Amino acid sequence: MYDIITRTRDGLGLSREEIRFMINGYTEGRVPDYQMAAWCMAVYFQGLSSEATAELTMAMVDSGEVLTWPELGGQLVDKHSTGGVGDKTTLVLLPWVAAAGVRIAKMSGRGLGHTGGTLDKLSAIPGFRFDLNRTEFIQAVEEAGLAVVGQTGNLVPADKKLYALRDVTATVDSIPLIASSIMSKKIAAGASRIVLDVKVGSGAFMQDLSSARLLAETMVDIGTKTGRRTTALVTNMDQPLGHAVGNALEVREAVATLQGSGPEDLTELCLALGAEMLIQAEKAETPEEGRQLLLQAMEKGLPIERFRAMIAAQGGDPRVIEEPELLPQAPVCLEAVAPSSGYVSRIDAREIGLIAMELGAGRQRIDDEIDLSAGLELLVKVGDQLQQGQVMARVYGPAPESVNSAARRIEAAIELIGSPTEPLPLILARVSR
Ligand code: URA
Repeated sequence: MYDIITRTRDGLGLSREEIRFMINGYTEGRVPDYQMAAWCMAVYFQGLSSEATAELTMAMVDSGEVLTWPELGGQLVDKHSTGGVGDKTTLVLLPWVAAAGVRIAKMSGRGLGHTGGTLDKLSAIPGFRFDLNRTEFIQAVEEAGLAVVGQTGNLVPADKKLYALRDVTATVDSIPLIASSIMSKKIAAGASRIVLDVKVGSGAFMQDLSSARLLAETMVDIGTKTGRRTTALVTNMDQPLGHAVGNALEVREAVATLQGSGPEDLTELCLALGAEMLIQAEKAETPEEGRQLLLQAMEKGLPIERFRAMIAAQGGDPRVIEEPELLPQAPVCLEAVAPSSGYVSRIDAREIGLIAMELGAGRQRIDDEIDLSAGLELLVKVGDQLQQGQVMARVYGPAPESVNSAARRIEAAIELIGSPTEPLPLILARVSR
C-alpha cells in the first residue's frame, strides 16, 4: 500500500492488480483508513489516469453484490442525476420513457442535505411501497412498464466505506473519485445503458461548467471502457428546476408535467434526457427522433397512465392524480412577494434548497424524519420582470413562525435589478462517445 500511495503521489500509473489489492484490502479491513486517506489525497492532487479510474470503478463494483436482470432481457437503461434543488425529473422521465415503450426498473435513494431524493418524493403518495422483493419488482415492471424501488442488497460496500472516509478527509471533491463512486453504483445495480444528468450551478455539487464537463466526460469514459454505453447532459442548476421544492409539492408538479401542463424547464429537461434514454434503448437514432416519440406519447395521454399504473402496482393510491388533496397538506401557507419592481438576475438555488430542508422537506442527518407536506413553490425564474408586491413564492410548513422566516429568506435569495436580464440556458453540454 505504501508503494501504491507513492506511485499515485508521483503521478505514476497503477496496475489493475494494485487497484484490486487496495480496494479489496480496504473493504475487508486489511488496508487501514490512514493509508486509504493518504491515497485519496494523492488522487485529489495528482488525478488518476482514465484506465486507472475505470479499473477503480470495477474493483469497487466487485467489492459487493452485482445485480443482473435476465427477466428484463438483460438490457437495463438507467438514469442518474448528480442532484439538484426541485429535481423531480425521475418522477416524470421514467413514466414518459415507459410510455414510449421502454421497460424501466430503477433503484433510487433518499435525499440528504439541500437536494431531495426520489424515494422521499414518492413516499408522499399514500400506500406507495419501495420495499418490493425481486419477484414483486419484476412483476411491477411487467404490469406497469416501470417500477422504482429502494436500494437493497450489499451493493458497492467499498464505496460506502470510501465515501465516509472522503467525507472527513476533504477528498470528496475529486473528479475521478466522484465519477468512480457514481458509476460503480449504477453498474452494480445492473445498468447496461446509462444516461447522466450532471448538474452545475449554485444548487449543485459541481459549481462551474468546466468541472461539470470534466465529471461528465470522466463518467462517459468509464462507461465506454467498461462496456456500458453512457451519455451525459450537463444541465443548469443555478435556479431550482420547475417551481416546486418539497416532496408532496413535487409529486403534484410531476403529475401536471405528465399531463402536459408542467413548467417549461422541467418538461424540456425530461424531453432531452428521455430522448437520450430512447437512443440508449435503441428506439431512436437521434435526439430529435427521440423527442418526437416522446411528444407523440404525450399527445395520446400515455405518460400519466404509466404513472398511474406504477402507483397502483406498488400499492399506492392512484387517486392522487385526480385528487391531489389526498397528498400530505401543510397547515400553513404564506406568500413571499417582490420587495421592489425589477428583473430577476439571480436566484440562490442552494439557499432555496436549504430553506426547504429547514422547513422539514429534507434531512440534515441521515436519520432525520421529514415532513412530506413542507416546502415551497418558487414562481419566478431568472429573466422574469416583476412588479413590487408580486408573489414570488408560496411557502408551506408546519407553523407560522418557520413559514414566515422562510418567506423572508426567499425574498433575500432572489436578486432583482433595474435592467432586463436574460433567461438561463438549460442544457449546457452533451457528452457521448
Ligand atoms: N455522489 C456520489 O455518489 N459519490 C460521490 O463521490 C459524490 C457524489
